[in-house]
Amino acid sequence: MAVLEIRKYPDEVLKRKAAPVEGIDDDLLRLVDDMIETMYAAPGVGLAAPQVGVSIRLIVIDVSTREEKQPLIVLINPEIIEAEGFVELEEGCLSVPEYTAPVTRAERIKVRALDRNGAPVVIEGIDIFARALQHEIDHLDGVLFIDRLSSIKREFFKKRYRKALREIHAGA
Ligand code: NI
Repeated sequence: MAVLEIRKYPDEVLKRKAAPVEGIDDDLLRLVDDMIETMYAAPGVGLAAPQVGVSIRLIVIDVSTREEKQPLIVLINPEIIEAEGFVELEEGCLSVPEYTAPVTRAERIKVRALDRNGAPVVIEGIDIFARALQHEIDHLDGVLFIDRLSSIKREFFKKRYRKALREIHAGA
């Protein structure tokens, strides 16, 4: 297993619509393991394949906290088939470091996908798990959480981010 480089905004791969996974082979399973290791190393609660530069529909999620252990989830070609309610929560992303903002998302969702063995699964998520699922599935469609902010907040973010990038390049 290996920790992969996480692509950061405004990397082009993050804006691309990812392709469906056509078959599960050793390369794919190695990528799954590397993504899991990369997510835990970050640390993050989820990771989508485009975030490590591979534009395919694959996500891993683990929303465990110190207090409460949750299962590690691997989903291939996930698709939201039901969504209910709305809730606004502060959100961040490993590809958009040092920035968080409140994002409104469905409170409860149902997702259809394949697991790492290629078996069809339907999983239901609420609260933080539902949010992580929606956030990671968004990555597969080239959507970042900053794309879901109001245009005023998005402009504010872009200005701040550009300034931060300039400071990094200037060695500040
Ligand atoms: Ni993200």
